[in-house]
Amino acid sequence: MDKVYQIILKRRTIRRFQQKRIPFALLKKIVNGGRLAPSGANLQPCAYIVVDNSTLLDKVFATLKWAGYIAPAGNPPEGKRPTAYIIILINKEINKYGEKDAAASIENMILTALEKGIGSCWIGSIERGRLRQILKIPEEHKIDSVLALGYPDEKSVAESFKGSVKYWKDSSGVFHVPKRDLNSILHHNVWRQK
Ligand SMILES: Cc1cc2nc3c(=O)[nH]c(=O)nc-3n(C[C@H](O)[C@H](O)[C@H](O)COP(=O)(O)O)c2cc1C
Repeated sequence: MDKVYQIILKRRTIRRFQQKRIPFALLKKIVNGGRLAPSGANLQPCAYIVVDNSTLLDKVFATLKWAGYIAPAGNPPEGKRPTAYIIILINKEINKYGEKDAAASIENMILTALEKGIGSCWIGSIERGRLRQILKIPEEHKIDSVLALGYPDEKSVAESFKGSVKYWKDSSGVFHVPKRDLNSILHHNVWRQK
């Protein structure tokens, strides 16, 4: 039981992937999960480009930056790169402040994907001008984020916060992601100084 919560507990960013194709029908289902996310005033400013063509995968990859705290160790090496991307766009003519809508939609897509065994990395560090040219994205659509996808080929675990938010990789390649403890950020009824 608690299916969604279990998936949320299990979810970690993945940056190395098996080279197994994700069926397009499944990628469409993931976008559909995003489409149905909450949206301010129900304006629904987001649009999505699914990329799974091998030439374009290489070109999109070249516009992305990975795991800044440990760069370049977090870069997916050749043979471990994402097998699909979803580019999340915001139509500024519908809502120029659509970032929260995009974020809700992205999290929906991450969880929809994970339920099907697909790992992902939400990427905000993008050479946007270059990506716009590669994918012929029209000017009124702002590039919000890229969601990199694939069947996982690495392990990542959450650990309790010990003074630093910096994720790290151990000698066996396992990612460790410090998360602030619940009691340090949870207040009940009124703010209580910790
Ligand atoms: C808005 C946003 C932008 C992010 N941008 C990048 C990015 O450009 N490159 C990257 O490797 N990871 C990126 N991430 C992933 C974060 O590094 C990751 O979520 C964080 O380290 C926590 O790890 P977890 O997702 O496993 O909990 C981004 C995440 C968010 C929410």
